Amino acid sequence: MLKVGILGAGIMGAAVARFLTQKGVHTRILVRRPDRASELQDQVSETVTHPMEASEGADLVLSFLPDDQASKSVWFGSDWLTTIQTPPRHVIEMSTLSLNYVDAWNDRMQQQQWNAFECPVTGSRGGAESGSLVGFAGASEREFPEVTKILNLFMKKVVFFGARGNGMRFKLCYNEVGACLMATFAESMFHLEKQGISLEQALEGFDMGGWTSAISKSKGPALIAEDYADPAFKLDHMLKDLAYLCETATPKQEAFPMASQALQLYRYCHEQGHGSLDFAAVRKYYQRWDD
Ligand SMILES: NC(=O)c1ccc[n+]([C@@H]2O[C@H](COP(=O)([O-])OP(=O)(O)OC[C@H]3O[C@@H](n4cnc5c(N)ncnc54)[C@H](OP(=O)(O)O)[C@@H]3O)[C@@H](O)[C@H]2O)c1
Repeated sequence: MLKVGILGAGIMGAAVARFLTQKGVHTRILVRRPDRASELQDQVSETVTHPMEASEGADLVLSFLPDDQASKSVWFGSDWLTTIQTPPRHVIEMSTLSLNYVDAWNDRMQQQQWNAFECPVTGSRGGAESGSLVGFAGASEREFPEVTKILNLFMKKVVFFGARGNGMRFKLCYNEVGACLMATFAESMFHLEKQGISLEQALEGFDMGGWTSAISKSKGPALIAEDYADPAFKLDHMLKDLAYLCETATPKQEAFPMASQALQLYRYCHEQGHGSLDFAAVRKYYQRWDD
């Protein structure tokens, strides 16, 4: 039986673990909170409390962690990479992380002589629940034919960018587009409402547009209902991705005027306490002019 370890039991990690378990894969998911372990115990093969337990003898280990700090703590916090008895055959960092960190992660995996690469994903909770994620791999397809077969179980497409780090380079830019699109869409909806246009009619228009339909169909209803409480992708994660893009990508931040502007909107919403809501809550930036 195929064995897959999953590090991170949030929106993405838990959804992928559930999906793979239903496909007959033996899944071991790292969960740090006992209440979360109780929630997941009937949905996955095993819940474990240490990354080594999730990884011992696994065919593949996938990591879905919030940020650099969490990834560092899970992968390198207790030096289990050097003490594990049967290392996993392959490991993939699927979280969205900074370029500096992911380069260091890849170097460390290479020192360890583990088969590893980064493959951040898109598709959000819906894609993870339905096995239709898209991945951006910092590797070439011919290096990992065996892994590709496993990835095909829960992903509809992997774009191979050829070299370590390039999957993450693409992913951070990809999320810049999403962050700006969401912020612009929220801004337009705010101004249309102020001008007396019905938001339902506005959505009818946006839903028909080639540029706008994806964001309008996925986030329009939440914007109208002002309901962001059940996040598919947390606002704090979008903020983190913009910060990683602006701080660590070259050339410098001034060369990212759009990302820098969007960063300010998401940061404001974070400071107002909305970080754990869906990223569509960037609409709250405009609340000060709502009256
Ligand atoms: N959601 C999406 O739509 C989406 C799409 C593409 C990419 N991503 C990326 O994928 C990653 C995961 O996203 P997500 O939405 O699943 O995040 P999430 O819902 O915030 O889940 C993160 C998980 O990591 C766990 N965690 C944090 N620090 C840990 C540690 N030190 N040890 C063990 N577990 C730890 C958290 O545990 P607790 O519950 O105990 O805090 C939580 O279960 C992020 O990098 C995100 O940017 C997300």
